Amino acid sequence: MSVLVIDNIGLLVTGEPSLGEGPLGLVRDASVVIEGERVAAIERAGAAGDERLDTAGRCVIPGFVDSHTHLVFAGDRADEFAARMAGRPYAASGIRVTTAATREASEDDLRALAHARRAEAIRAGTTHLEIKSGYGLEPETERRSCAVAAELTDDVTFLGAHAVPLEYDGRADDYLELVCGEMLQACRPYARWIDVFCEEGAFDAAQSRTVLEAGRDAGLGLRVHGNQLGFGAGVQLAVELGAASVDHCTYLSDDDVEALAASDTVATFLPATDFSTREPYPDARPAIEAGVEVAIATNCNPGSSYTTSMAFCIALAVRDMHMTPEEALLAATSGGARALRRDDVGRLVPGARADAVILDCPSYTHLVYRPGVPLVATAVVAGRAEPGYRPPHA
Ligand code: NIG
Repeated sequence: MSVLVIDNIGLLVTGEPSLGEGPLGLVRDASVVIEGERVAAIERAGAAGDERLDTAGRCVIPGFVDSHTHLVFAGDRADEFAARMAGRPYAASGIRVTTAATREASEDDLRALAHARRAEAIRAGTTHLEIKSGYGLEPETERRSCAVAAELTDDVTFLGAHAVPLEYDGRADDYLELVCGEMLQACRPYARWIDVFCEEGAFDAAQSRTVLEAGRDAGLGLRVHGNQLGFGAGVQLAVELGAASVDHCTYLSDDDVEALAASDTVATFLPATDFSTREPYPDARPAIEAGVEVAIATNCNPGSSYTTSMAFCIALAVRDMHMTPEEALLAATSGGARALRRDDVGRLVPGARADAVILDCPSYTHLVYRPGVPLVATAVVAGRAEPGYRPPHA
């Protein structure tokens, strides 16, 4: 098996405290030895191998794990964004606009759009991502969305309960029968997870429970959209049902924090959504101090957060949610992996998938210090440097 060495790393973030210094497991003057798709060893710079990526003293981090995206959709809602910037509030009803465009798109159109967005995410350093359906809201378009997502990741989430479509207006319970019946059956072969938007204006706690229990009975793991636009039942329901993650968490009460801390449900923050919807940023400190497992994700979607940049989310988390750069980086890598209940991604440790990002800078702090700057020199995904490798400049 051919051996690839990422060499001359000035500062390596392994994400595993036992391998180095501090919570990030930092190793200086290091190399990462990769055999096939896996990390074989972390060694001193100059390790032997067949091929070499010379990082010239730059910083290398585990690839970002984006545990919350909606990459499969058609259409654009830039006008809605512009109106929001002019003062109009965010409304979940915009989901119907994207649903109309997505239903009209062919499977090939959706494939091309989703593949292009994933390529954009990789260029921004994301080496693993979760993808939700949720803009079809009828069985065939939801199936198509899950099928396209499954070409790009093994973390596909069925989100038929994203919104009540127009044709079911005022008949949410009838729509949920479809979601939990025919739609779930159509999507089940492609999906690992089921999700529900538990929020005023979307689905209430009882409806959300019905969806999650149907998914669990079909063998799917549970995820919840909750506490995005106000305090609500999402967090408590996610904890009670043992969901892997509850996402948004923009509004967390003391009871929510306490419940999360006593659970193994990850609180996933989506700060680019708060940016784009002008919601207040949540303060991550009480959750972190209480011992809650946290993750950060992009929530890439055309309505509330049209970005694939995990670095942007890290910058917001540090600047506006009071996380340290170290906490934010961990939340965007191993935190995302925990939100997906995986231990093969999010850390550079022997045996893990060789997903690494070579940054064009000496330290991960630059992700926050130089916001908006494309600092990813290259991403290595499962041991392969993505095409377009850009050697760090001297
Ligand atoms: O996570 N909250 C629900 N779903 C998306 C918004 C989707 C949209 O507005 O199109 C979100 O923010």
